[in-house]
Amino acid sequence: MPVPAAAIPLPIESKFFRRSGSASKRGAAPSSEDRPAAPDRMKTSPTPIPFLDLPRQHAAIKQELMAVFSKALDSASFIGGPMVSGFEQAFARYVGAAHCVGMGSGTDALRLALLAMGIGPGDHVVTVPNTFIATTEAVSQTGATFEFVDIDPETCLMDANRLEDLLRLRSAGGEGPRPTVALPVHLYGQTAEMQTLMDLAQRYGLKVLEDAAQAHGALHHGRPAGGLGHAAAFSFYAGKNLGACGEGGAVTTSDAALAERMSMLRDHGQSQKYRHQFEGYNARLDAIQAGILQVKLAHLDRWNEGRRRVAARYDAAFAELPWVRPVRVLPHNRSCYHLYVVHVPDRDGLREHLDREGIGTGLHYPIPLHLQPAYAAKGWGRGSFPHAERSAESLLSLPMFPEMTDAQVERVVRSIQHFGESASTE
Ligand SMILES: Cc1ncc(COP(=O)(O)O)c(C=O)c1O
Repeated sequence: MPVPAAAIPLPIESKFFRRSGSASKRGAAPSSEDRPAAPDRMKTSPTPIPFLDLPRQHAAIKQELMAVFSKALDSASFIGGPMVSGFEQAFARYVGAAHCVGMGSGTDALRLALLAMGIGPGDHVVTVPNTFIATTEAVSQTGATFEFVDIDPETCLMDANRLEDLLRLRSAGGEGPRPTVALPVHLYGQTAEMQTLMDLAQRYGLKVLEDAAQAHGALHHGRPAGGLGHAAAFSFYAGKNLGACGEGGAVTTSDAALAERMSMLRDHGQSQKYRHQFEGYNARLDAIQAGILQVKLAHLDRWNEGRRRVAARYDAAFAELPWVRPVRVLPHNRSCYHLYVVHVPDRDGLREHLDREGIGTGLHYPIPLHLQPAYAAKGWGRGSFPHAERSAESLLSLPMFPEMTDAQVERVVRSIQHFGESASTE
């Protein structure tokens, strides 16, 4: 049930802040959203703190990574082969699914999972507006339609109550298409309310595809993302918790028929060389990327523990700063903290302040999908999904990577604290 915008309180207001000067950057291009620290503007801060420090991760495992490149060059095995199947088996085991099918990207993984489920024209998918556009692109590219339900303002995850309301109305003959798939997004490293969503799926005859692009190693009631729904799509984009040195993706599932269909879809519909059961795509995971991912998978739990340590320090510090409100992690969830996101008043002012101090930040995501130009023709406007809209205006992603030192975390916190103090004396 849509809630009128006026009924939603602002996420945070503080006596420290005037909400001014925030609108100018609201339309910033998504490509500029992960802002590294700016060394040329670093007159006052000695060492920049990047938003994400991948070179540091790579330096620690360089020998292992170089061995993968070497092996691929020596064998000239770049497509398929043992590096791909080895990683697929290891990753399926990691998420507790029977099968993993490597793909060229997370977007391919979403699209081919839907196609393999038989989704196409006439089908209808429900997802959330506060995600990367790949989630909805994948749906449209199958020929199906999609719609959004609003998010829970505390967790920023799909509000399962709103989904239930929608399903109840539609199955009682209410206006609008009956959904065939729910596509929840495990945002920022925390799984959506999968137990509730799977109950709804059973009751209303839906398939559930997890968008697990940000959730490698996240747990829900102790079970890993990727083994919770009918299928799950992962991205191995370089900056993810488990990232390739380039592009990559995978679908995990325990449905053997679905896995077999996806294996063919990613490879021109081939069941064996030059025998095409149907037209497919070129959406395969490279052998080099699979080898790199297998090396990195062995470090993933340790890296995620590093992220949790950083998150715990941020949490403790922000408990003392009530105007900084971290996204809530549910007690039965264990986030893998792909991102550490807070809601603050005067978000753009704080972001500029951190940038001046050499501290990198990101916005995930500054414009909800229903307000994107790409979907202007669909007729949504401001006020359609008020929680997602208000979240987009006040969210800020802080530096988060496993190797971040306590001193770096403290400097970020101190800088935020100073911003609050100077705003309160203005
Ligand atoms: C939530 C979400 N879904 C899908 C994708 C698409 O993944 P890829 O970039 O690997 O195609 C991403 C990647 O950024 C994502 O964050």
